[in-house]
Amino acid sequence: MIYSEGEALLRKKIGLDPNSIGSDAIARTIEQRMLECGITNINIYLEKIQESPQEFDALIENIIIPETWFFRERESFKYLQQYVISEWVPNHKNHVLRILSVPCSTGEEPYSIAIALLEAGLNPDDFHIDAVDISKKCLLTAQKAIYNQYSFRGNSLAFQERYFQRHETGFHLHEQIKSQVHFRHGNLAEPNFLLGMQNYDIVFCRNLLIYFDITTKERTIKILERLLNPACLLFIGHAEAGLLLNSRFVSIRHSLAFAYRKSTISHTLLKPQENKNNHKNYRLTHSKLPIIDRKSRQNSVNSKINKPTQDNTINLLETAKLLADQGHFPAAIQLCNDYIKQNKISVEGYVLLGQLQQAMGNNQDSVQSFQKAIYLQPTHREALTHLALLKENQGDVVNANLLWQRIQRLQN
Ligand SMILES: C[S@@+](CC[C@H](N)C(=O)[O-])C[C@H]1O[C@@H](n2cnc3c(N)ncnc32)[C@H](O)[C@@H]1O
Repeated sequence: MIYSEGEALLRKKIGLDPNSIGSDAIARTIEQRMLECGITNINIYLEKIQESPQEFDALIENIIIPETWFFRERESFKYLQQYVISEWVPNHKNHVLRILSVPCSTGEEPYSIAIALLEAGLNPDDFHIDAVDISKKCLLTAQKAIYNQYSFRGNSLAFQERYFQRHETGFHLHEQIKSQVHFRHGNLAEPNFLLGMQNYDIVFCRNLLIYFDITTKERTIKILERLLNPACLLFIGHAEAGLLLNSRFVSIRHSLAFAYRKSTISHTLLKPQENKNNHKNYRLTHSKLPIIDRKSRQNSVNSKINKPTQDNTINLLETAKLLADQGHFPAAIQLCNDYIKQNKISVEGYVLLGQLQQAMGNNQDSVQSFQKAIYLQPTHREALTHLALLKENQGDVVNANLLWQRIQRLQN
């Protein structure tokens, strides 16, 4: 409780949802900073971070999770190449393709974009990449572009030889790739983020929304809409897919690319529905469940919300999904549990339950559900990915990395 004022300040300034990394982690970071400043009284430290932008920056540097690596979620980069070559280039003769990577962390993501585009056949002058992050320390590392082995994961590392030189200090990125990326400092939680900048044709905004509170998430989605040209592409992280339903972004329906196209339809036609649980805009993805057209889905929800127990067990799961899509998370969790009671080895049941628990902020419970799903099916990519991201959010880098390695092995 004593640190709640610090949490409130972090929420206000950088949109951080304390549940995403845990109050304990925030408390430990504040204590560490107090120690380094020689301050023993929390109230004095809270005054200091209000008055000193330098100290607030230092706190941010310690609180952020800069985890990233080259070609993270490789399918996104494959889809980027395919889209640019087959669609963007033929329709935009003599235009420079503008790309934004935010947050860019230590640079692996925007440099991967540059490599992917050059390998797709674009000339260096054909595209422009801006890369933004709140962490000045990360940006300095990005500009140096010297990396260690943790920036390279998985087995498809042929690009390493082509674009890096190995020195005692690490892997040095070639100047040609470095010069393709323009780094700048910025805070995506600020409503005026990049206001007045020329729009982008492609935005990568991956693995940041998961740390934001609901208000900042919603505001950020609007900012991303503002920054993107119509019909252009937004890439997000795997765990963030559900956040864009009911926004102006429409999935391109490629299972592992996590790409969305900005719709040209007016925003007012796509207004989000409120619901009493205050989880508007949050929707889940259920790749393993049957797809039902929108109208029958709505009728089905309306008829099932009040009498779900009359359905057979398959319908329990289907109804749980429908309720989840409507934002009725507690009811969906209850149905999911009922379903699991009758289908104790249902991987799909545990995955859906984990997603719902995560949506409700019950990260501990959702970890357990994903673990059960993985126990039942050790190669379940979706469960492994959710669990890896949860571990990453909890700062459990060792276990998160082990899980990413498992996922990577599935891809090879
Ligand atoms: C997990 S990394 C994601 C990097 C990369 N997009 C990826 O997916 O690999 C999260 C980054 O978000 C940055 N960040 C956190 N809050 C931010 C904010 N409000 N505005 C901009 N960047 C922020 C952190 O500094 C950190 O580098």
